[in-house]
Amino acid sequence: MKKNLIVFCSLLLSTVTFSQDKKPEIAIIPEPVYLIKTGGMYTLPKSITVETSGNQELQTIASQLVAQLKTATGYAAAITPKATGVGTIKLLLNVTADKSLGNEGYSLVTNPSSITIKANKPAGVFYGVQTLMQLFPKEISGKSVAKNVAWQLPAVTITDYPRFTWRGLMFDVSRHFFTKEEVKDFIDKMAEYKFNILHITLANDEGWRIQIKSLPRLTEVGAWNVKKVGTFGDFIPPTADEPKNYGGFFTQDDIKELVQYASERYVNILPEIDVPGHSLAAIASYPDLSCTAGAENYVVRSGEKIMNWHKGGFDALIDNTLCPANEKVYTFLDKVFTEVAQLFPFEFIHMGGDECAKNFWEKSDQIKQLMAKEGLKNMEEVQSYFVKRVEKIIESKGKKMIGWDEILEGGLAPNAVVMSWRGKKGGIEAAKMGHDVVMTPNDFVYLDYMQGDEISEPPVYATLRLNKTYSFEPVPEGVNSKYIKGGQGNLWTEQVYNTRHMQYMLWPRSLAISETLWSPKAKKDWNMFVGKVEKTFDRMDVQQVKYARTMYDPIFAVKKDSRDSLQVMMTTEVNGLDIYYSFDNSHPDNFYPKYTVPINIPTDASMMKVITYRDGKPIGKQIDMPVAELRKRLKA
Ligand code: ACM
Repeated sequence: MKKNLIVFCSLLLSTVTFSQDKKPEIAIIPEPVYLIKTGGMYTLPKSITVETSGNQELQTIASQLVAQLKTATGYAAAITPKATGVGTIKLLLNVTADKSLGNEGYSLVTNPSSITIKANKPAGVFYGVQTLMQLFPKEISGKSVAKNVAWQLPAVTITDYPRFTWRGLMFDVSRHFFTKEEVKDFIDKMAEYKFNILHITLANDEGWRIQIKSLPRLTEVGAWNVKKVGTFGDFIPPTADEPKNYGGFFTQDDIKELVQYASERYVNILPEIDVPGHSLAAIASYPDLSCTAGAENYVVRSGEKIMNWHKGGFDALIDNTLCPANEKVYTFLDKVFTEVAQLFPFEFIHMGGDECAKNFWEKSDQIKQLMAKEGLKNMEEVQSYFVKRVEKIIESKGKKMIGWDEILEGGLAPNAVVMSWRGKKGGIEAAKMGHDVVMTPNDFVYLDYMQGDEISEPPVYATLRLNKTYSFEPVPEGVNSKYIKGGQGNLWTEQVYNTRHMQYMLWPRSLAISETLWSPKAKKDWNMFVGKVEKTFDRMDVQQVKYARTMYDPIFAVKKDSRDSLQVMMTTEVNGLDIYYSFDNSHPDNFYPKYTVPINIPTDASMMKVITYRDGKPIGKQIDMPVAELRKRLKA
């Protein structure tokens, strides 16, 4: 009854008021479970004390908070490591656990005279602080003192806890290497939105990124390729004399530092070593891991074509797979996972398992002998034999194994957790078999996909708009939700060469993923979310974080009218935008024709230019759409 009353009040009171520019006054992402505006404002004093109950972890959280408050406000700020009751901001642990909050929930009460965050565990306090920061003016997130800001926040009562325990983002540092400082930056940003798992891809065809002391060639050879720029995937193969000096790796000390840094932000790091496919960097370092003769001539991939994708699947042009029939491979993996397990405290290790080409295995005598010996009927069973042996190795190090959904093929390893990426199908199948699942369906959460029209975005083979990402639901119908641990967004970096573009691909889609994984399903609301994203953009401007504004751009569709002539239709993801267009090659503005109904393309036009406006101001970027491109789409 009391709970119902709170829900009712929160619906009434948290009905967020929108200012003129459509941005809500309170814009917390992910949306809290209960939020009640209680009236009045809290004003930060010029001398701030952050009071904790003396717990060491709370001290760390308090020092992070104090550092940011000082940086942005220029005020004096200090920690009181005791519950004196007079601190400006109180960070407290519940003496008696509040069961509804679990391990990560918190309560946050701000009123005109105080700010109090309470939780059962320090993680909850940390998340309460992240919410608190979003209540302050955006300048609180800045890197230097902001002048002329009223350091006020609205009085609210918030009770909040996550829907899922697995709230991940994947960062591929293999295709392009990103430094320790860049990874820390990534962790900072994900933690702000209450993500708690960083899945880091440490080994792939393009680079081995973690020092393994017992296998030094992995980083002497495997971490380096030839620097190429342009459109990854079809680069001219490097010549033997081109320097292999592009890349890098994390030393074990770097890894320890990252693990510690992440843990202070309540982020677990999930290391991925992708085997048996995508293993060219390992094979270039240790060629006898391959079944194929001539592997000693293989080099770490620099972005040249190595796979042939066709309707029925794919073949490798060179053998980038480890040899499941070779005992040396398991000795190698034992060494790798021994060191990986010692470095990462998280309970899981990811063994990849995706996109393993079988065309070289099919020709291998060693594989044929293995099949005869083990009674394996096909290549899927060969792969499954390999995966089951890897699971034994990983479990012998005291860890649980997780892999991409291909590990279902040929028979799933007994205790494996499945990361479903080719849609939700693999996840559904695994959950029905009683296995835990992490949902990362490519059609909802692949952050390497283009966010807007391919005519105006850096080219990738697929598109995923913000509203589609926001519609992601991790628990499929008919599946027992207890098997769905949560989900994550995956940022592959074939086409991501630097941090600015990494940020552009992450945001705002990761905001949508954050809200899906943390907030109650019933609290998700696209229009509200868009308003909050707009306010978050302002905060990201202060933080100097890059993000995509593609949600303001038009979406094109084509059809033929009754007289067989080409018609173009346009919509937008965001409501309330006006679309203006030209066919005469000039730049349209809001004095040009406004799109209302499907338009016929003038016979002689070769270019359509389009721009979106809101309230008389340009808001999207101008898109130049060749008419030939529209005709091509009609055929497709
Ligand atoms: C994947 O995207 N190949 C897991």
